[in-house]
Amino acid sequence: MPRIERQRVTDLLAREKSRFVSSHSRSKRLAEESAPHFLAGVQMPWLVEWESPFTVFVEKALGAHITDVDGNEYVDLCLGDTGAMFGHSPKVLVQAVTEAVGNGLTYMLPTEDGIRIAAELERRIGLPRWSFTLTATDANRFATRIARAITGRQKILVFDGCYHGTHDETLARLDDGAINPRSGSVGPPVDLNLTTRVVEFNDLRAVEQALSYGDVACVLTEPALTNAGMVLPDPGFHEGLREITRRHGVLLIIDETHTISSGFGGYTRAFALEPDMFVLGKPIGGGIPAAVYGCTEEIAKRFDALLDPSHPVVVGIGGTLAGNALSLRAVRVMLEQVITEQNYEHMFDVAAQLEAGIQKTLDEYELPWHVTRMGARVEYGHTPEPRRTAREVEETTDSELEQLLHLYCLNRGVMITPFHNMMLTSPATTAADVERHNNIFRDCIRELLGHTAA
Ligand SMILES: Cc1ncc(COP(=O)(O)O)c(C=O)c1O
Repeated sequence: MPRIERQRVTDLLAREKSRFVSSHSRSKRLAEESAPHFLAGVQMPWLVEWESPFTVFVEKALGAHITDVDGNEYVDLCLGDTGAMFGHSPKVLVQAVTEAVGNGLTYMLPTEDGIRIAAELERRIGLPRWSFTLTATDANRFATRIARAITGRQKILVFDGCYHGTHDETLARLDDGAINPRSGSVGPPVDLNLTTRVVEFNDLRAVEQALSYGDVACVLTEPALTNAGMVLPDPGFHEGLREITRRHGVLLIIDETHTISSGFGGYTRAFALEPDMFVLGKPIGGGIPAAVYGCTEEIAKRFDALLDPSHPVVVGIGGTLAGNALSLRAVRVMLEQVITEQNYEHMFDVAAQLEAGIQKTLDEYELPWHVTRMGARVEYGHTPEPRRTAREVEETTDSELEQLLHLYCLNRGVMITPFHNMMLTSPATTAADVERHNNIFRDCIRELLGHTAA
């Protein structure tokens, strides 16, 4: 079995960093100019997590490609970490929002688009009642609030390694049975032990135990963990989770913000899950802020029953701009014309090509790594088999190696997601785009093993 020497990783990373700096002078200047203006020195807090010495500044993006301010072009396999999963500025979306923009953008009144969206979501997901927000974070926050309201229970259960946005009660981690704030979590409002139970993904016995106290309103989870590295559900996990949650009267909220890569009705439709509530944000507006959450008729009735008919005010969910006319127009067009079965077929084809190319290199060089694919989402990891829990991912992650792979691709015109070498394909991604990545990946592996790049 080939061994990757640590010193080689370190040397290659140093070489790639200096190559990046010399080919991104304008981005460097803008990063330096930005720093004194912003909290943490960057425009958005997560930018500090990009693997390059500073981030590229974008000039424009179209379809599956991005151009930066230095004129470097990239095949974009990051796609805004799913926000642009259906390609940058799809033509039909641009046309629709350009037309809509002159008719007023937000009225605090409904439009017909909202009805068409809810009907289409029901057709895809099978849930009849929906509501709108601007972000997946808010959709998760409101779904969990509703779960608390209708069950009268205080806590939520999440899995270690989860990410559901900046939703306070989910920013928890499991440390030898203790529940602590996620590392890096700033200013947790209350002790998480008052709000949250955390267990390992794929551990049904722990779920059973955690729900047995009778204080959990809902389980909030992705169908597979995608934010801790890809952690796939064991066979039978979802059936077990559904059975246990039902038996304990606990609502099951499925957050498909990332796993919508599984198909036009998400993992829920592809694998016949039966959530009580469903959340989807990020790509549903094609980049225009929008998110949705939906629920069964039973949950909706229990919610409605809480409202006082003489004073039916709902406080704590909603938002002035939620469901604004522009975002609803965007969502409708995306659902009707872009997030389609036909486009998914193409996305799956190129994602399969991406996966196969990576696997071919792993086989050729007998590297004990694995590659996983969830529809249009592909990710590789530095262990022979996919990991079953977030803790396993944490313990086996080689950050230096991840950084090198990311930067090596970036320096050669392919952008992959920072954090954990994750890639997405869009309707605009071509076979040539994917081939480009696969050749670069192979070159990087060759260099890591002491060969010259092809
Ligand atoms: C599964 C999941 N849910 C929710 C969110 C939050 O999305 P947003 O930051 O758009 O609110 C994310 C963000 O990465 C996510 O991965």
